[in-house]
Amino acid sequence: MKQSSLNEQLKELKLVPVISTPSVEAGLRLAEILAANKLPVAEITFRSACAAETIAAIKAKFPDFLLLAGTVLNKQQAVSALEAGVSAIVSPGYTSRLAEYCKQNKISFFPGISTPSEAQSAFEDGLTVLKFFPAEMSGGVKMLSLFKEVYPQLCFMPTGGINKDNIGDYLRLDNVVCCGGTWLSPFQLMLNGEWKKIEQRIFAAVQIIRNL
Ligand code: 3PG
Repeated sequence: MKQSSLNEQLKELKLVPVISTPSVEAGLRLAEILAANKLPVAEITFRSACAAETIAAIKAKFPDFLLLAGTVLNKQQAVSALEAGVSAIVSPGYTSRLAEYCKQNKISFFPGISTPSEAQSAFEDGLTVLKFFPAEMSGGVKMLSLFKEVYPQLCFMPTGGINKDNIGDYLRLDNVVCCGGTWLSPFQLMLNGEWKKIEQRIFAAVQIIRNL
């Protein structure tokens, strides 16, 4: 997928649920809830061993889902994310090595940055859409407003400490493409099968972003 059309999709969706799933079945169940709430997007993190398998299973059942691989830390994980069929690779930090791998394989890469030096390193390597992580602990909305003045070429996907109460403040910034977070479906709720609670969280978040 072209980076520009991916950015457009993310802008439209506004919110990317970040999911560390305890099992493939739980990942699929969550995807069903997201689809029912018209939020067909997920960042499946490689914090869980079944990440690649879950991505492939969601892709098979929901071909229109936008799937990102999250917490990708090395080439090996990037390779399995690509094989599973993701549209982009997301990492909490920035390394030139991972950036080079994504470039060679023509896959979009959203590396995490939280300082001006990291933002500039990523920009020097040709990247203009960056994950801002951990957002709340790194200056949050104020920091992104300042980045807008200093780096008008860059835009951001903030994650880290974002929730229903502050997502609106981030999404109102021009240099924010979309926000991400785990609060919609925390690992423990998925593990316990607390689907009603998860459904309520997703429903509430969708109401908020639709009304912005
Ligand atoms: C991520 O991987 O982007 C973070 O875990 C998101 O942070 P959160 O858990 O505070 O939402």
